[in-house]
Amino acid sequence: MKYMVFKDAKAASRKAYEIMQKKINAHSTLGLATGSTPIELYKEMIAGFEAGEFSYKDVKSFNLDEYVNIDKNHPESYYSFMHKNLFDHIDIKEENVHVPAPYTDDDEELARITAAYNAELENAVIDVQILGIGSNGHIAFNEPGTDFASTVHIVNLKENTIKDNCRFFDYDMAKVPKRAMTMGIKNILAAKTIILLAFGENKKDAVAKLLSGKEDIEYPCTSLVEHPEVYVLVDEAADPEK
Ligand code: GLP
Repeated sequence: MKYMVFKDAKAASRKAYEIMQKKINAHSTLGLATGSTPIELYKEMIAGFEAGEFSYKDVKSFNLDEYVNIDKNHPESYYSFMHKNLFDHIDIKEENVHVPAPYTDDDEELARITAAYNAELENAVIDVQILGIGSNGHIAFNEPGTDFASTVHIVNLKENTIKDNCRFFDYDMAKVPKRAMTMGIKNILAAKTIILLAFGENKKDAVAKLLSGKEDIEYPCTSLVEHPEVYVLVDEAADPEK
């Protein structure tokens, strides 16, 4: 695991972009994340595309997760987030982007959608997986206690994750979706290269657990410690050694 501390999110995201560029080519597959953390990286990707440095026209992408039963076009759906913050500004083809689509509350239907997304991932090789991290150490929506061998699944979100997310839903807990569909830890670990970004004081504890180098099922981020190629890029506020 390579650990790097930067003065701010912008500097860390610039480095993340440089690492990503070294690891991908015109036909690569990216694993993408949502949340506030990757936004600066997506700005770097957009700027690189606009400057003619890189084209995404033959690139494929798979997103980590999505809320269950949210309207696909809700401004806070991860589908909307990805279009607003990245896809609408680069030349990636709509048929090449994959965002989990659990837009139903029907459990049988959800099981079918979950299995289908898992099958798509099993047929793909993710060259670079971008990850943020939850304040409780979750990655994607793999909450504390998730089996490290887990594949795509439906999850009941933990209370503190719902609280963390309520800023996107008018600070109203009742409006925050309570379930999500997520890549499992096994799917994430299958990526060739993983770049995890963590910004802000509230990520410090989770980063400390990751740096401890010990697997701990209560901190899903620690599943990354045995992966052969993980970059952890943090800002000063998230650096537990400070
Ligand atoms: C959500 C997402 C995660 C993300 C986390 C942190 O739980 N499912 O993928 O890492 O939020 O969000 P933020 O980057 O806004 O701190």
